[in-house]
Amino acid sequence: MTSKITIAIDGFSSTGKSTVAKQLAKELGYIYVDTGAMYRTVALYALQNNFAKQGEVDAEKLIENLDKVNIDFKYNAQLGFSEVYLNGVNVETEIRGMEVSSYVSKVASISAVRQKLVALQQEMGKAKGIVMDGRDIGTVVFPNAELKLFMTASAETRAQRRFDELQAKGNTEVSYKEVFNNVLERDTLDTTRADSPLEMAKDAVEIDNSNLSRKEQFDKILLLVNAKL
Ligand code: DC
Repeated sequence: MTSKITIAIDGFSSTGKSTVAKQLAKELGYIYVDTGAMYRTVALYALQNNFAKQGEVDAEKLIENLDKVNIDFKYNAQLGFSEVYLNGVNVETEIRGMEVSSYVSKVASISAVRQKLVALQQEMGKAKGIVMDGRDIGTVVFPNAELKLFMTASAETRAQRRFDELQAKGNTEVSYKEVFNNVLERDTLDTTRADSPLEMAKDAVEIDNSNLSRKEQFDKILLLVNAKL
């Protein structure tokens, strides 16, 4: 029997990390953890409690109340993946909206938030057999992961994907331009923050999927995975 490994997938927003991660987890019978969903859930908590408003996040208030933020994942057999819960309430849909998207990078730049979430993520991955996606998985959360992927695609490709996704979900009041600007803004915030900025781990394999079909990309990644098993 082959032993289980840890797969870390990092990269910019809307590079299709979660699609690949879910596919891989399914193929290997591994657990999938979307760490972006965890940062989004904290941002939602901040919004619900008025610690995030008018474009600003009150970091002090949020830190004071961090103990009250309980994040769980529960497997939804019908969907075939886990959904995220904030204090017992399923927030999977709410965390994907533009409001959370516009505050999440600010929330993710707060060190106390990162410490809490990284500790949770390391606990979830203790037994290996996990595919985790985010921004700092290969660099901070699991620096010893057996396989590290770093996904990239042009900002235009990523904005178009995100825009199509929102439209498909019936979110038609957001323009492509707004989505594109949000992508650029998050890229800047994610790569320039002081604590754990988004960067490629030295031993990661870069996958630029601007011109790859989902199948081509998955086949390429499966080869990398099989080489590690
Ligand atoms: O992957 P996503 O777009 O859902 O992530 C939402 C935000 O959370 C993103 O702007 C960066 C932040 N994030 C992070 O800082 N570290 C992670 N491991 C995952 C996400």
